[in-house]
Amino acid sequence: MDRFICLEGIDGCGKSTQVAALGDFLEKEGFKVLRIREPGGTEISEAIRQVILNPGYKDKMNDLTELFLYNAARAQLIHEVVKPALRKGFVVLADRFAYSTLAYQGFGRGLDIEMVKNLLRMACGVFFPNKTFIFDIPVSLSKERRSNDTVNKRDDRIEKEQDDFFERVRHGYLTIAKENPETCVLINAARSKEDIFEFIVSHLKD
Ligand code: ADP
Ligand code: TYD
Repeated sequence: MDRFICLEGIDGCGKSTQVAALGDFLEKEGFKVLRIREPGGTEISEAIRQVILNPGYKDKMNDLTELFLYNAARAQLIHEVVKPALRKGFVVLADRFAYSTLAYQGFGRGLDIEMVKNLLRMACGVFFPNKTFIFDIPVSLSKERRSNDTVNKRDDRIEKEQDDFFERVRHGYLTIAKENPETCVLINAARSKEDIFEFIVSHLKD
């Protein structure tokens, strides 16, 4: 069984819906499950989240500052939560992890990809998901889902970006999936919640 599972994709692709369903499923199967969501998950990481996503910093925050803040939040999360949970035999189920940085800050913002990868190695060390599901969806459909989402009325700093930014992020995720066929599974996320759930479960290693 994959012990560190991550769901990735552009905002509104349907990850959180599947993290909830998959977490419940794995618990029913008898696994101890830790759910994490990035950025956040510790007191310090949540404080960093408030800074990163603050819409008041739109057009103010430097791209490098953004890159470092996501990884500062991540380093803390790994140290306090991920590492101890894996040691105790939990399955870690992540709503985003390091590939979000590669897709958003690398491909989206246009930062040097090798530099971003080096920083990720520094922040994560050996703690990296052994299975990542990458949800692929047209930007127009993800926007439609976000605007219909009455539960999470979100309008954070990143979600205020224009379509061309999300097109670059989507392309980034497709590139990541292509470059890491051993650990990444690409999902057509335009399908129904039920179809996506079935697909994920069928791709978890025994
Ligand atoms: P994310 O975590 O990727 O931002 P969510 O899981 O919060 O996305 O989903 C965004 C919205 O789209 C929610 O209102 C959710 O109910 C809806 N949604 C999720 N998956 C699907 C799907 N496969 N088909 C249609 N709507 C979906
Ligand atoms: P969140 O509300 O958690 O978005 P979602 O529900 O779509 O996952 O906000 C996280 C935002 O931060 C989201 O727009 C993606 C972005 N992000 C990055 O740009 N880089 C990163 O490394 C991470 C983890 C998230």
